[in-house]
Amino acid sequence: MIKKTWLTQVAAGLLCSLPLAMPLSAATDPAADLKAFQDYFKKTFPSVTDYEEFGNGTYALDAVSRENWEAIEEFPPYEIALEEGEKLFTTPFANGKTYADCLPNGGVGIKQNYPYFDKASGEVRTLEQDINKCRTDNGEKPYGWKKGKMAALMAHIAYTSRGNVIDVKIPADDPRALKAYEEGKHFFYSKRGMLNFSCADCHVSSPGKLLRSDILSPAAGQVTHFPVYRSKWGEMGTMHRRYAGCNKQVRAKPFKPQSRQYRNLEYFHTYMSNGMKINGPGSRK
Ligand code: HEC
Repeated sequence: MIKKTWLTQVAAGLLCSLPLAMPLSAATDPAADLKAFQDYFKKTFPSVTDYEEFGNGTYALDAVSRENWEAIEEFPPYEIALEEGEKLFTTPFANGKTYADCLPNGGVGIKQNYPYFDKASGEVRTLEQDINKCRTDNGEKPYGWKKGKMAALMAHIAYTSRGNVIDVKIPADDPRALKAYEEGKHFFYSKRGMLNFSCADCHVSSPGKLLRSDILSPAAGQVTHFPVYRSKWGEMGTMHRRYAGCNKQVRAKPFKPQSRQYRNLEYFHTYMSNGMKINGPGSRK
């Protein structure tokens, strides 16, 4: 049985690296968490000498996959989405307004600041939410959250943000922000599904190991290139589409895209890549 093989491989990996599965401290200090996270990945993958390389996921760890990927990136499969996204971005709504009228900095080069804690609602907000709010505020229908036009628009905005350093903030003067971060962190380290795996089990303890035909990527830098064109999907997808896919892999019931759970997860997950550069949109196997 194929399933048994891949599970056994990852499970064996986990046994070896279990003490390292939780590199973060119990008391919540996001800056200390980030430092421990970075130190862990540096120590575990000494061959990755440029930390920025983790933003290339699996391709930072495996030379053969990297060659294939570099060949694909010569004619990037996300190019069509980029064209569509730019068109959507610049075409005015029926009332004459555009996204540039609602988003910070006219919607250009802003991806590195998302998600953010919104004091007015007391919740974490994502760029997808701000895009759809801009639409509904201007009398347009919201887009779906996982692919299609939303992913194309996200790709365009990520592209204008390339090279910008991820800078997710957890405002110290609002305890609700830290609580949201904690909830995301808890999600990341909690075992779930019939297979009883946490995000960390696969993406902290087991990067570089094979899971079925996939080489697991490191959690560090996992957010830098979203949205992503994934060959398996044959199209673009947003981060919450990916979260749902990873939840389903362990036979857990996925949460809804843009649910509080996934937004808080994204808050923690992105904070753990603070200091890295946006290199989206990306392409993956
Ligand atoms: C059973 C193992 C497993 C678990 C648990 C798991 N994933 Fe994944 N994940 C994968 C595999 C396999 C892939 C595809 C190969 C890769 O890029 O890692 C993947 C891909 C991803 C990617 C895309 C990486 C890229 O470079 O594009 C992200 C982001 C991600 N996972 C996040 C998560 C999060 C967050 C969780 C917890 C909710 C999680 N995963 C749980 C196996 C897992």
